[in-house]
Amino acid sequence: MKNFILVLDFGGQYNQLIARRVRENNVYCEVHTFTTDKTSKDDKTQSGLGVAINFDAIKDLKPAGIILTGGPQSVYNPDSSLPVPEIFNLGVPVLGICYGAQAMTHVLGGKVQSAGVREYGKTELEIKAESALFKNVEKKSVVWMSHTDRIFELPENFVATAVTENCPIAAAENSGKKLYAVQFHPEVLHTEEGKKIFSNFVDICGCSRDWKPESFIKDTVEKLKNKIGTGKVLCALSGGVDSSVAAVLLSRAVGKNLTCVFVDHGLLRKNEAAEVEEVFKNQDLNFIKINAGERFLSKLKGVTEPERKRKIIGEEFIRVFEEAAKKIGAVDFLVQGTIYPDVIESGLGKSAVIKSHHNVGGLPDFVDFKEIVEPIRLLFKDEVREVGRKLGLPENLVSRQPFPGPGLGIRIIGEITPEKIKIVQDADAIYREEIAAAGIDKNLGQYFAALTNMRSVGVMGDDRTYDYAVALRAVLTSDFMTAEAAGISWEVLSKVANRIVNEVKGVNRVLYDCTGKPPATIEFE
Ligand code: XMP
Repeated sequence: MKNFILVLDFGGQYNQLIARRVRENNVYCEVHTFTTDKTSKDDKTQSGLGVAINFDAIKDLKPAGIILTGGPQSVYNPDSSLPVPEIFNLGVPVLGICYGAQAMTHVLGGKVQSAGVREYGKTELEIKAESALFKNVEKKSVVWMSHTDRIFELPENFVATAVTENCPIAAAENSGKKLYAVQFHPEVLHTEEGKKIFSNFVDICGCSRDWKPESFIKDTVEKLKNKIGTGKVLCALSGGVDSSVAAVLLSRAVGKNLTCVFVDHGLLRKNEAAEVEEVFKNQDLNFIKINAGERFLSKLKGVTEPERKRKIIGEEFIRVFEEAAKKIGAVDFLVQGTIYPDVIESGLGKSAVIKSHHNVGGLPDFVDFKEIVEPIRLLFKDEVREVGRKLGLPENLVSRQPFPGPGLGIRIIGEITPEKIKIVQDADAIYREEIAAAGIDKNLGQYFAALTNMRSVGVMGDDRTYDYAVALRAVLTSDFMTAEAAGISWEVLSKVANRIVNEVKGVNRVLYDCTGKPPATIEFE
């Protein structure tokens, strides 16, 4: 038995959260879809791919426990995917959540029925029997429900352990075989005792809690050393947290055999290029910074159309990187900062929209290399940040908000000029400073200043001005696919506006963007 928990994904929207909850207990887990296809046995499963696996692959993985997730299906729909009964005879604990609980019941001979209406939202759970899953859990607590079907009759040797108003069987178990079914969603934070339930399940599985940033770093560096040996490695460093953490892990493993190329396209935030250089020039690697600002500016001269700007920036980036790579010569490995949500999403056949269409595309096509290494592909974003801290990266880099590849180029409407870049850099720096000073930076998904292409009349002292309007944006979002405008206090906004018009030359008006996505996007172009 290996010290990890396998999450079998049946398509529910909270499935990554389940993995997060397990990992919060310092226990490693992997998410896979389940298939009954006998031929589908992916030999890369242990590296955490989100691909479908069948029963044989599960046996080979030797998980210490299995969690069956929720999902939108109904066990009576002939197209629904169901776990095979053998899963429940592996001798390892299984926790079924929502659809996973119904699937467990159905496969083992119980009955699931439609409740007629969908139950969605909070309700009170009352625990009715002793259960290892509910150890130290309050007898009555709020849980989160989202289901139409429910468990109606239990399989042999199962007992009901908890009820809610609408579900006489809200939780059940066969304690002898350590099989547990819960109709509610313990992974959602609305479920008050959810974290304890996961912690109890981890104990039931007998897992030791040693999946920690330090052990991850040690293992990863060791594995990278073995894999790469004396090979040469190339990394395109953006200064974002993912590529930075990936680069430092690689540098710990192969030192000077790693070359990091950082392209400064002149469209970075204020002082950002210098900060990145400061961090990396002291690491044990070959750090190459390319100052390409002027080159980008000349390509962008006179260009106003948003898509054209994006294209030029993307293509130019590749050209610059290509030239640098040619000087280095053939490399054996190319580093990518892929993280676990990308792996799970693309593995499930859903589009990994945010990364794939925004990443600086096509790098692997022209660099001469043998293999891609993705040292943080098993980590969620907050785990990447934690590893970054343990690697000694500075907090401002580790907690950095997402920043688009085309940089300020898509936050300046219309033609990009050095004057406009300076305005947006200065305004944005003030905005970020004040947001941090107000202590609200951690609550916001993304926040920045953009330069509208609008000039309007103002008055400064005794003089009339005709200057630019800066737009401030702050959004709340969990996935960046949709977002709502954040309600920032008037006190903070007016302070920022005052500072910007006083300190940034060329601006006489500050506007706040109140639009959500959709219909707007987060960026301006
Ligand atoms: P939008 O503007 O599409 O942005 O609502 C959604 C998220 O994606 C980021 N973004 C990009 N990231 N290259 C990137 O690396 C890009 O071209 C790009 N365009 C948008 C944006 O900052 C937000 O987080």
